[in-house]
Amino acid sequence: MTTTDEWLSAASEIDLADPLLYTGERPERIWRTLRSAGEPLRAGGDPGYWVMTRYEDVAAVYRNGSLFSSEKGMQLGLDRSAAEAAAEAAAGRMLIVTDDPRHAEIRRAIGAAFTPKMLRRLEDRTTAVAHRLVAGAATGETIDFVEEVAARLPATVICELIGVPDADRDHVTETTQAAFGGATGDPTATQVAAHAELFDYCDHLVTLKRREPADDVATALANATVEGTPMSQEVAVLNCHGLISGGNETTRHASSTTALTLLTAPDQWDLLRAGQVGPDDAAEELLRFSSPANHVLRVATRDQRIGSVTVSAGEYVTLWLGSANHDEDVFDAPDRLRFSRHPNRHVTFGLGSHFCLGAFLARMELRALVRALAEMGVTIEPRGVPHRLASNFLRGYTSMPLALIRR
Ligand code: HEM
Repeated sequence: MTTTDEWLSAASEIDLADPLLYTGERPERIWRTLRSAGEPLRAGGDPGYWVMTRYEDVAAVYRNGSLFSSEKGMQLGLDRSAAEAAAEAAAGRMLIVTDDPRHAEIRRAIGAAFTPKMLRRLEDRTTAVAHRLVAGAATGETIDFVEEVAARLPATVICELIGVPDADRDHVTETTQAAFGGATGDPTATQVAAHAELFDYCDHLVTLKRREPADDVATALANATVEGTPMSQEVAVLNCHGLISGGNETTRHASSTTALTLLTAPDQWDLLRAGQVGPDDAAEELLRFSSPANHVLRVATRDQRIGSVTVSAGEYVTLWLGSANHDEDVFDAPDRLRFSRHPNRHVTFGLGSHFCLGAFLARMELRALVRALAEMGVTIEPRGVPHRLASNFLRGYTSMPLALIRR
């Protein structure tokens, strides 16, 4: 057997779609092995899918975005037809599962809401919320960092982004908490019900903003035009919910992984607390390190070469972002957290036309969190075993017992 055959055989034996694979550190070792094949591999049996673990191959797919569709869904499902049916319900209407040119139109309509004034307001609010949450949690008692801090930060910031009135904020934050963050990637009945409630709330909010416009994203959706016609209520509601979904779990996982990472890299934590590195550089490296979006999915729309292989029209292509972010050909000592890393061209938020619309917000939240932790000079102490989420789509923790002790 040639070396390539050996890699192909290794890739086909690992079920990368299995959510349980991601409850430990094993994926990092698997990705390292797959990267060293030096070319895209196939996995998943028949019909299977392409596996892009090297930075160069991930970037090549993103760069050729017009030759790949997002409309078959965002992630590998254990059951392909069920996953495709679920995606079909939102394809062409919800930003993340819509292809250009319609995608560009919806994106422009939502992006129009991100005015400099709004961004300043969000920054102030995010800083205040991060300080309040860290101060409240830093009692020296054992807390679940996921529940007390990491989940609350994005839920509160998103209320500000989409323009939830003050009177509704507790309700929306609680429903958001209930909707996201199960112990596995499969939603429980409570989570499904909470999502339905969030949809209803988005419907109510968009209707409200038609009557009472304000400087927020729900108003932008209510007044948007797509391809010259007003955006329908359904598309506005789907995208309002899309923002809530896109912004919650990912940022929660980035924040909780941050706490654990600081705990395991005391030299970097000391640099940050001593002011020798800034929160911007720290947040960027923590985003590379945590890579909460585990993979994204595309379907090739025509035959093409990616690296040394031919991807045929109709084939599934998976991009493993966490692996690309640890590619030794691009990042020196990739498994080391290094706040001084420059450049830091991570793909945590993807690349190209679907580049994360909330990246500025996620960066703002992470910066605010590390600044609050550093300014309060807290010591982070482990108080139990953190539990990883069982999901092939998102990487992060469902619980993290620790204590924040103020100096
Ligand atoms: C798209 C990751 C935070 C809203 C994406 C994509 C990635 C990503 C990888 C590209 C998906 C693809 O290529 O198919 C993350 C991570 C975050 C984060 C790791 C936090 C650390 C947020 C926040 C929001 C948000 C806070 C909302 C305010 C979106 C939306 C898209 C998107 C709407 C779709 C963009 C498009 O299709 O044009 N995100 N995201 N994300 N994200 Fe985020």
